[in-house]
Amino acid sequence: MTAPAIRHYLQFSDFTADEYAYLFERAALIKAKFKAYEKHQPLTDRTLALIFEKASTRTRVSFEAGMYQLGGSVVHLTTGDSQLGRSEPIDDSAKVISRMVDLVMIRTFEQAKIEAFAAASRVPVINGLTNEFHPCQILADLFTFIEHRGSIKGKTVAWVGDGNNMANTWLQAAEILDFTVHVSTPSGYEVDQDVAGIRSSDSYKVFKDPMDACRGADLVTTDVWTSMGYEAENEARRKAFADWCVDEEMMRAAQPDALFMHCLPAHRGEEVQAEVIDGPQSVVWDEAENRMHVQKALMEFLLLGRMA
Ligand code: CP
Ligand code: NVA
Repeated sequence: MTAPAIRHYLQFSDFTADEYAYLFERAALIKAKFKAYEKHQPLTDRTLALIFEKASTRTRVSFEAGMYQLGGSVVHLTTGDSQLGRSEPIDDSAKVISRMVDLVMIRTFEQAKIEAFAAASRVPVINGLTNEFHPCQILADLFTFIEHRGSIKGKTVAWVGDGNNMANTWLQAAEILDFTVHVSTPSGYEVDQDVAGIRSSDSYKVFKDPMDACRGADLVTTDVWTSMGYEAENEARRKAFADWCVDEEMMRAAQPDALFMHCLPAHRGEEVQAEVIDGPQSVVWDEAENRMHVQKALMEFLLLGRMA
């Protein structure tokens, strides 16, 4: 009997719409069990390695708590406390780590680095954020939207801010799950279709004015002006992004029942007004919590496949 091929989760486009439908259903069940204090431990004796080359709060806690809840355990590595920071070749690291654990999550800089790790790995690899993509976050954001509003098919998501890893991942999700993204970025910070890895521009529209992007949107979302790894550009970005702050006027331009999301960490008074992120349309705390539930479904899927 031949072993089934390893599946990685390196970008949103690694899964089909049908697989996402399964994952959202499974995450809802896993979340319900968690809320009822019911044990769900399909990953007993499995080990997850968490490799961080950038800082994290949500990603670390959600994966670590999630894996323990599934019955497994976790090994935590950073650039500073492993040979990764001392130039051990990435595929040597991948070969060694993947002989000892069942699953690996990596947060790093270039997407090429996680792709290289995955190519040399014996076990599934999950993208916990790269410069280009943040698929686990969009998985949680979509699950949160579905919980509050039902299917996202045919809906409009307004992206206000940087053409960054989050924006790219929204674009991939729109292409797979059949919704539209209204993108408004300052000039010089636009999304790039090639970097985003999408087939066409059919699922997104670009707006110069962020107000126009928000008009009629079912969800308004943004992110920090300066992502991790781009700190040297901080001053230039503060100037360029001054008009890309999600405020109450933008929320009024959206649908009356529009949701507001932010992957966090947030900077009130920069990319979002406190009145919006702390206001009634904001679902940022559900969004953060849901990281754990969807990632539990993701880890189970990568290691065990579809459960009945
Ligand atoms: N949203 C998110 O990935 O948060 P952390 O950087 O805290 O992991
Ligand atoms: N775009 C941000 C997301 C942080 C979760 C970053 O890459 O720093």
